Amino acid sequence: NARYPFYGAHQSGIVTPAQDRLHFAAFDIAASCDRAGLISLLTDWSDAAARMTAGEDVGQDGATGGPLQAPPEDTGEALGLPASALTITIGFGPSLFTDADGADRFGIADRRPSALVDLPHFSGDILDPAISGGDVCIQACADDPQVAVHAIRNLSRIAFGRAALRWSQLGFGRTSSTSTSQQTPRNLFGFKDGTANVKAENGDDVQTAVWADAADGTEWMAGGSYLVTRKIRMIIETWDRASLGEQQRIIGRTKGEGAPLSGGTEFTEPDFDRTVDGAPAIDPHSHVHLAHPSVNEKAMLLRRGYNYVEGNDELGRLNAGLFFMAYQRDPRRQFIPIQRRLAANDLMNEYVRHVSSAIFAVPPGAAEGGFVGSGLFG
Ligand code: HEM
Repeated sequence: NARYPFYGAHQSGIVTPAQDRLHFAAFDIAASCDRAGLISLLTDWSDAAARMTAGEDVGQDGATGGPLQAPPEDTGEALGLPASALTITIGFGPSLFTDADGADRFGIADRRPSALVDLPHFSGDILDPAISGGDVCIQACADDPQVAVHAIRNLSRIAFGRAALRWSQLGFGRTSSTSTSQQTPRNLFGFKDGTANVKAENGDDVQTAVWADAADGTEWMAGGSYLVTRKIRMIIETWDRASLGEQQRIIGRTKGEGAPLSGGTEFTEPDFDRTVDGAPAIDPHSHVHLAHPSVNEKAMLLRRGYNYVEGNDELGRLNAGLFFMAYQRDPRRQFIPIQRRLAANDLMNEYVRHVSSAIFAVPPGAAEGGFVGSGLFG
């Protein structure tokens, strides 16, 4: 029953050991909400997030302590449940800084970080705008799904009249490890996922690949990070008809151990020069080769995605995949070039479809009594 502090230099939910469950929500700020309204919303969200991550219910009176004549302040479904490692992480999308008409609604257009770019179109994208983008995001991760859902439900309720849910996503199983203390989980292709991830214990990687610095050009983002989310549908039925050898060739690793096809065990570095019978042991178009730092100017990502299954489609195929989330210091040097390379050549493309996309600037953590994003208004 872990408990993570809401306040601190960095927001929790980034290098925090990836929890088992996700409820992710993107909000649009209401047309009637002005700068003062946005500040009050971020303040109320931070206060409620601090309480919920401590395992408490929302508001002074909580779920049951208020007057009988009024709706309770907290919705109640997490009563009696522990904090369950809940983290609540808040980020800002490009449309918060300037809306679709180019208007600077909150007087923050000049604060938009240059790293918060609009993501380009990638080959193969079939994005649904209704489940993409958003002014503000909240990532709630916990080891208990009820605790994560309770968090998003109550934060949506607190936002009433100021922000409305644009889209949301549930994830049921982590597809990454963000700490060397964790076992590597598996994605819905059945492969270990998160082996070569940035891990919290590796301070140098975290510093170079995850945390933004004032010297990067945006002072209020120092200690923050940038989040890219991609909902990636997996064509499970086709994948399940591929042979074991073909599946391994596509990934570049073995299915059982997760070892690189060039040999060794799970954490052995892949050797892309190794050949077997004259052919590269790891296919140059395998996912692992194309995503590897050695071909991406050393760029790394802190991946923190989740499996999802949302029933089935009209053809009886599972509507399933990976809700990919990656934190990084600068998407222009990390997600974008890596995804360009994958979109162009990854053998995996036959089995995946990117259906939603979003990018957010995730500010540093708030000091006790402060609110997340306060640096934006100073
Ligand atoms: C590695 C699966 C999408 C970036 C891996 C590995 C697997 C995997 C099995 C090897 C184990 C590991 O090191 O974690 C998938 C699946 C995806 C997907 C099933 C989609 C459904 C993406 C996307 C990106 C990405 C969209 C970034 C644009 C990476 C990186 C590595 C990796 C950077 C580590 C490469 C290395 O350093 O060895 N992925 N991945 N993946 N993936 Fe993905």
